[in-house]
Amino acid sequence: MGLKHVTTVEQLADKKLLSTLMARAAELQAMPLHEYPKPLQDLTICTLFFEPSTRTRLSFETAIQNLGGHLISVENAGTSSSGVKGETLEDTIKTINCYADGIVIRHPEVGSAEEAAKVSDVPIINAGDGAGLHPTQGLLDLYTIQKSKGKIDGLKVAMVGDLLNSRCVHSLVELLALYKIELFLLAPPELKIPESYLKLLKKEGITYHEYEKWEDVIGKVDMLYMTRVQKERFKFIEDYRAIKDSYILTLDLVKQMKKDAIIMSPLPRVNEIEFSIDSDPRAIYFQEVRNGLYARMALLEHIFAN
Ligand code: CP
Repeated sequence: MGLKHVTTVEQLADKKLLSTLMARAAELQAMPLHEYPKPLQDLTICTLFFEPSTRTRLSFETAIQNLGGHLISVENAGTSSSGVKGETLEDTIKTINCYADGIVIRHPEVGSAEEAAKVSDVPIINAGDGAGLHPTQGLLDLYTIQKSKGKIDGLKVAMVGDLLNSRCVHSLVELLALYKIELFLLAPPELKIPESYLKLLKKEGITYHEYEKWEDVIGKVDMLYMTRVQKERFKFIEDYRAIKDSYILTLDLVKQMKKDAIIMSPLPRVNEIEFSIDSDPRAIYFQEVRNGLYARMALLEHIFAN
């Protein structure tokens, strides 16, 4: 049976399902556009974004159209939907149920996608809920690792930057915990990963290390996952300014990395990866963006064609 909602990472956290989705993403990526299947051809999907996005919204919208679906979109729902007039999220979701067969939602509140799913008869896909989760980013990141390194088991993986607020980090850590990896967590004391993820790693028997210095990490890992410090999650701008540049990946640091390591980032980049690194073949963050399209096509197909 296919998935209904994808509001948490737990719903994707099954190695067999992940293998199926990643294999299908690879097939779709190798296919010419005119050969794409059209499982969404009689369906309308709504993208409902209360927070800014470049990649997630555009890749979902491209994926929906590639699979033959009709698209309706609310790009700035925080300022352009009737939420502005005081409509609840629940009523907005019930309303969109009258027009659409699926809803892709991004919202600033942790747990909002799960709240939406409670009142929705059509599938809800969480495209980011505040500092909570971003399950499809986790999927595309896992696919990118598998595609670039040919495996996930046995890798040493580093997560760097805002591990407290990055829903991309939270989602990828939850998926990586299914595999035999070693995790290096590099963050300032204020932005350490929430305790719940450390508990999960312990429960799954994953070896992890929490560090604050580049030298403890840079030459040791097979994958470096860079994240920006998330300005929008800070209450006071001074607190953000004090730590925003804690970890900047420079060319000098990249020179110390393994020759076959990969550098990933969910993007957007603010100041944490020097632009000069983009031409290094190990920097695969724009391939990661591209991979996201096919990972999301595979997921949409799985949800709506099953
Ligand atoms: N990675 C990611 O979620 O990017 P956007 O915020 O641009 O969608």
